[in-house]
Amino acid sequence: MDDKGSMDSLDLVSPYLFTYKKRNFLVKDKLRPNDLDTLQHFELRPTDVFLITYPKSGTAWMQQIILQIMDEAHPEQAEDVSNRIRVPWLEERSADDPNRVRPDPRIFGTHLPPDMLPLAVKSKQIKAVYVWRNPKDVLVSLYHFAQSWVLLETPLSFEDFFQQFLDGKVYMGSWFDHVSEYSAARNQLNIHFVQYENLLKDLRGEVVKLCSFLGQDLTDEAIDRVVESSTFKNMKTNPNANYKEFIEKERYKKETMRKGVAGDWKNHLTVAQNQRFDEVFKEKMKTLPLTCIWEMSQ
Ligand code: A3P
Repeated sequence: MDDKGSMDSLDLVSPYLFTYKKRNFLVKDKLRPNDLDTLQHFELRPTDVFLITYPKSGTAWMQQIILQIMDEAHPEQAEDVSNRIRVPWLEERSADDPNRVRPDPRIFGTHLPPDMLPLAVKSKQIKAVYVWRNPKDVLVSLYHFAQSWVLLETPLSFEDFFQQFLDGKVYMGSWFDHVSEYSAARNQLNIHFVQYENLLKDLRGEVVKLCSFLGQDLTDEAIDRVVESSTFKNMKTNPNANYKEFIEKERYKKETMRKGVAGDWKNHLTVAQNQRFDEVFKEKMKTLPLTCIWEMSQ
């Protein structure tokens, strides 16, 4: 193994995370800095689709929605296997194979920031869907997920994890950087932004917009089926959609379909933590041209 790939040379944030190009990756995964560099040259086809998220922003939900849209458009390609296999992760190697042979259009998932994406995403103007969610709910969801996923460190306390999140010392680094960088890259990429909370408010309306972005012309009945199969209730009982096999293989200790709401942060953050969060948010996101939806009444 060369120097960039060895364990000793990793810039560790904790025994579970190492930093590379300002992002935090999993020590317990097989991916190393040289693999991340290699990913920049990952070959893509013009028909490929990228699903990009910061962790816990609605990735599994969007996997289900995009796959159902594609299955309605190309029923002969539908497969009865887990969504995670059908939408392999680009940068997580213990479970996924991004080179898996499958029909076009191929869908890839990634949490990578814009500057670490395969160069072809920009040069070939690959269609990318970016799902983002208000960061207080992301923090809470990630806090619970850190107690579930065996590759992450179990938080000492909510307060401890809260500070790590604000400092960007969690898996994949700072939420604030991720969202600002994708917002800034908007005009260079062929990217469609979707807000998690808008999926909660009007799933059908968002599916219609996605069909248009993905160039898939579905009937009203087909759109209804996509929506129905993508509700929280139906995904929770669909083993292909809810990562059940990860629980069976003891990679996850808890269900991934936890609450699926907006505003759960109110049950976790103290008044003082909320104030601190708002201050950091105001400072870091001053120039963000996007508006967060913090709760459903908004
Ligand atoms: P909570 O932990 O707040 O419940 P990701 O897939 O990016 O890891 O995001 C996981 C979050 O998306 C979890 O949030 C999960 O419950 C939520 N989620 C998944 N499918 C959903 C659906 N159909 N409707 C609403 N939320 C969903």
